[in-house]
Order: sequence, then C-alpha cells, then structure tokens
Amino acid sequence: MVDPLQTLDSKKNPVEELDFSYQNIPLNWDLLIQKKIGEGGMGAIYQGVIVGDGTTKKVVVKVSKRPQEHIQDLRTEVHLATQLKNNYIATTYPFKIYDEKGMIIMDFIEGHTLDQVRKKHNALGLRFPEKFAGLVGWLAAEALHYAHNVPLQNLEGKLVCGVLHRDITTRNIMIETEQGNTVIIDYGLGILRTDSAQTIGQISGTLGFVSPQIFKGEGAQVQDDMYGLCMTLYTLISGDNPIVPEKSKATPAEIMRNYQKEIPSLTQIMPHTNPQFSQILQRGTAIQREERYPDAATLYTDLKDFLFTQGFGPIRHSLRSYMELIYHPEFPHYLDNIRGQIAPNPSVPFLKKLEEVKVQTKDYMQKDDQLALETREAPGYILIG
Ligand SMILES: Nc1ncnc2c1ncn2[C@@H]1O[C@H](COP(=O)(O)OP(=O)(O)O)[C@@H](O)[C@H]1O
Ligand SMILES: [Mg+2]
Repeated sequence: MVDPLQTLDSKKNPVEELDFSYQNIPLNWDLLIQKKIGEGGMGAIYQGVIVGDGTTKKVVVKVSKRPQEHIQDLRTEVHLATQLKNNYIATTYPFKIYDEKGMIIMDFIEGHTLDQVRKKHNALGLRFPEKFAGLVGWLAAEALHYAHNVPLQNLEGKLVCGVLHRDITTRNIMIETEQGNTVIIDYGLGILRTDSAQTIGQISGTLGFVSPQIFKGEGAQVQDDMYGLCMTLYTLISGDNPIVPEKSKATPAEIMRNYQKEIPSLTQIMPHTNPQFSQILQRGTAIQREERYPDAATLYTDLKDFLFTQGFGPIRHSLRSYMELIYHPEFPHYLDNIRGQIAPNPSVPFLKKLEEVKVQTKDYMQKDDQLALETREAPGYILIG
C-alpha cells in the first residue's frame, strides 16, 4: 500500500520524516507517574514519563477498574498492542501491575480527540471540513489496514494475524498538534472499558459506534472496525452521534430502535455535503455487514479517490494550520465580529495567523480569495479573511 503522507505531501512539499518519539520502546525503562489528569471510560488516567536508555517520553497511564480476574485478558490485549508499530497508532508499553491493578501505559499524544474537535466546532457554529475528515479517515484506515493484517505473537508465542481495535470512536482518534497527524489511541484495549453507562449487556466498545452486530452480542469482525471509523467521521462532521444523540438522553429502547434503521445520509441532513463522501460513510455504516466495507484497504481506496477527485487531498500541514486557527483564543471573537456581533477587534498576531492559514490551506478551503469555513447550514460555508 502506498504511504498516504508520501503520496500527498510529495505533490507540494518535500517529503519529510515523521518525527514521532513514540516509535521506539527503550529496552530498560522505568515509569514515573506525575499527576492524575482525569477519569476515563477505563478508569483513572495519570500523566507520567518513561525514563530509559537515555530518553524520556511523556505517557498516559490508565489504571484499570476491572476486577482481578480480568488481569490476564488485559495482559493478552496489551501484549498484542505493544507490537504495533505504526505512525498513526499511539505506542502501548508493556503491561505493568501496581497494587493489584493493571496499568496501561501509552504515549501521551499532544493534541485533541475528535470528540473535542467536534464539540469545538459545535460551539463555534462550524462544521469540521469534509476534506480534512477524509484525510483523517484515510490515515486511520491505513493504520487499521496495518493492524488488521500484521503478524503478531500472542502470549503463548503463537503467531496471530492482526488485531481489531473494537472501540473506534471520536474519543479514540486524536489530531496531534505538532504535525497535524492522525493518531489512534487505545488500540485493541476494548476489554478495558467498564463504563456501564456506555454499555448494554456485555458489549465491548462504545454505544453509537459499535456496529448493530456487536450491539446484538455477535463477535467482532473487521467490518465492525470499519463501521466504527465511518461512524466516527459521520459524528465528527454532523456534530452528533445519530444512534446515541448527545442532546436527547436516549433510552435503551430508543437506542435499540436507532440501531434497526439506516442512519440518514450526510447529504440528507446537509444537502451541500459532497455526495461521494456522503456515499462512503453510508456504505461504511450500513446495517448489514455484507453491505459495509469488507476491509480497511477498500475504505482507504475510496477515501483516497474522494480526496483526489477534489484536486488532490489536503495534507497534514494544512490540517495543523487549520487546527491552530480553530483553537486560537481570539478566533471565537473574530467569528462573532464576522457574524455582526460586538466583540473585541482582532490583534495583529491573530491576523498574521489568519494569513498563514490562508496560505497553508489555499487549495482546500478558499473561495473568492477568502477562507471558506464550513458550516452545517446552507450555503455550507462562511467566508472570512
Ligand atoms: N494517549 C493519550 N494521549 C493524550 N490524551 C489521552 C490519551 N488517552 C486518553 N487521553 C485523554 O483522556 C481521555 C479519557 O481517555 P479514556 O480513558 O481512554 O476514556 P475515553 O476513551 O472514554 O475518553 C480521552 O478522551 C483523552 O482526552
Ligand atoms: Mg479512550
């Protein structure tokens, strides 16, 4: 398979090496836990550093709430995850037990989860640009293709062919800040999830993102990860999950009903959506497994075709630059100004940043020499700059 970054970036920029610290696990290492940073679906999350072989790496440590008897399952999952080496998958470190609790150690990704990005866009009254969603999907599909097919050794020393993620959601894919890279987190750690609010029965995964088959209790297959990824992109762009909507607290009966009907296509809810892109997500979220993408490579190819029919696909530098704008503290005021509301005038550094973003995203989001930010309402964009 062609490396998407090489293909895309070489069109405009010299191909540069990805500079990720999380590619190598030192042979001898120690973990220093620094502080608690939150409570996730898996349990408490801490920030820490790995020190070893003359390097230090920032990590997150997730302490499992799972009872003792699940430690062996966890150990198995982590053992497979540690063997994944991919630019778009956060490295998982070897399993540790502390105080009889399993600890998952993973590279700390500086950036934003797609769920945070979705909420940010909702708050700004914007929609995450389709082409960037296509790029994120493409890189994630590339990572899944790798992970689904790479030979790995299980704890008994036997070779297994690939591993499923089983919990692809907007919360488990991040856009990394430094390079605009896409990074999948919590790879293959589905069994960790203990958040009962998110589960009906004993499914492993997140409601609204697990496929109808997983919801019914069937075993996970490759197509279910494809469903998760397409539902993730759909949720990111539409602003909400169609099966478990955030606003109206869906009852179990409603969720069950939502799982039984096809979700409306993006073009149905937002007519200005690119039909080719909408079609891809429709296929990816079809109720019947046979109608979905059979594997990551097929989805990857369709996303690539979509990006290339758009001229050529956006590159991660433009995504990074766009993210800098969206997260700039002055950006909301600036948008308010554009929309005719009273807000402080933009500073010179902000206007400089805006110019930079215009240059960096020139081929993907410009109309009439202005930056076209996507919205959910007609005509589908707002012009700034
Ligand atoms: N490897 C990581 N790097 C940076 N932030 C992370 C990482 N893993 C988790 N986080 C942050 O912690 C939050 C909680 O993570 P997690 O325990 O996996 O629960 P959930 O997947 O339900 O959000 C994530 O939503 C994310 O904001
Ligand atoms: Mg997670």
